Amino acid sequence: MKKTEPYPNSVLFTEVQIQNRIRELGKRISKDYENQELVLVCVLRGAAFFLADLAREISIPLRFEFLQTSSYHDSTLPSKKIQFISSGSEYVKHRNVLIVEDIIDTGQTLKFLLEHLQALNPKSLKICTLLDKPHRRKVPVKIDYFGFEIPDVFVVGYGLDYAQLHRNLPYIAVLENTPQ
Ligand code: IMP
Ligand code: MG
Repeated sequence: MKKTEPYPNSVLFTEVQIQNRIRELGKRISKDYENQELVLVCVLRGAAFFLADLAREISIPLRFEFLQTSSYHDSTLPSKKIQFISSGSEYVKHRNVLIVEDIIDTGQTLKFLLEHLQALNPKSLKICTLLDKPHRRKVPVKIDYFGFEIPDVFVVGYGLDYAQLHRNLPYIAVLENTPQ
């Protein structure tokens, strides 16, 4: 890696902290949906790591869907423009659906996903995110399950990237000197 590239330098959550928290979330979700089935909707790419670990801590029957969005800033608009790269939602209709996200920042991606999934008529629709960055919220969202709340810093690891790098770190670290 070039020396000029930003490098993650302070660990915010260790691998053990993350796995312990996911175990707690898995127990809560299993209890809340006891005797029911659930569809986990994974928002690629970042949430893939969280999904894989969370799913194995949930004891009720699960189905999986994978969605991917892309977003870009349009200087003529106050918000990001978001569109689907892939929008798999075969199992959503009349089922309990839980969106699994890596991080909720402005909330714009989540608003877009909620509108799409709600239109497919799920039995219930809830949100689970590993990280919540509430200080940068532009769109109010109700989060049902979250792992950790974080301050207004840019983080990488455990699925989260900077320029598609660092997703494979088993911990979450702050990336310094990164424009958001
Ligand atoms: P939102 O629409 O602003 O809530 O965007 C959420 C998306 O932005 C996440 O799914 C991430 O892909 C990305 N993102 C936001 N904050 C961070 C961060 O600190 N590190 C890495 N990706 C981030
Ligand atoms: Mg994401």
